Amino acid sequence: MKKLEDYVRCIPDFPSKGIMFRDITSVIQDPDGLKLAIDSMIEAVRDVDFDVVVGTESRGFIFGMPIAYALGKGFVPCRKKGKLPCETVTASYALEYGTAEIEIHKDAIKPGQKVLLVDDLIATGGTIEACAGLVEELGGEVVKILFLLELAGLKGREKLAKYDVTSLITYE
Ligand code: PRP
Ligand code: ADE
Repeated sequence: MKKLEDYVRCIPDFPSKGIMFRDITSVIQDPDGLKLAIDSMIEAVRDVDFDVVVGTESRGFIFGMPIAYALGKGFVPCRKKGKLPCETVTASYALEYGTAEIEIHKDAIKPGQKVLLVDDLIATGGTIEACAGLVEELGGEVVKILFLLELAGLKGREKLAKYDVTSLITYE
């Protein structure tokens, strides 16, 4: 039987030279890969006490939504700047290959809510650190952060030292 890591495809020099791109489309286009990935992520947080899932655009939506649905929680999208129609809080951050800005609706997180953050992958940790900061700005508590993949060589975890972080596959 194939393991989760067997479904992840690696593309050298995408989107720019020197980047090893860990592609999750090869996981989710395969029905067995999709089921294994989502089921494994759900099991990793089944016993966590949380109220809502926040997922980051766009790959965090792919994994965050089914987890929220399966565990009977709501889902809040943390979107790239300019996409959300109501009042937002915004943060800018650096990526492995560029910079970006993300936003969450101000009314999406209620003070005191326990939040599970979900993304496909942690590289430098900039995206999820910015997302966690927005949740906290709105009064939410980040009780857990879940990734499918971790690029440990980029040391993103160091930015997340104060959080409970789990990734299902780690690349050195
Ligand atoms: C990717 C990935 C994570 C982030 C990780 O998203 O899905 O969100 O980069 O990098 P970091 O740990 O260095 O911040 P990207 O911004 O490429 O957007 P996408 O999900 O729309 O492809
Ligand atoms: N996002 C940031 N760095 C990445 C990488 N190396 N592979 C896939 N997605 C990424």
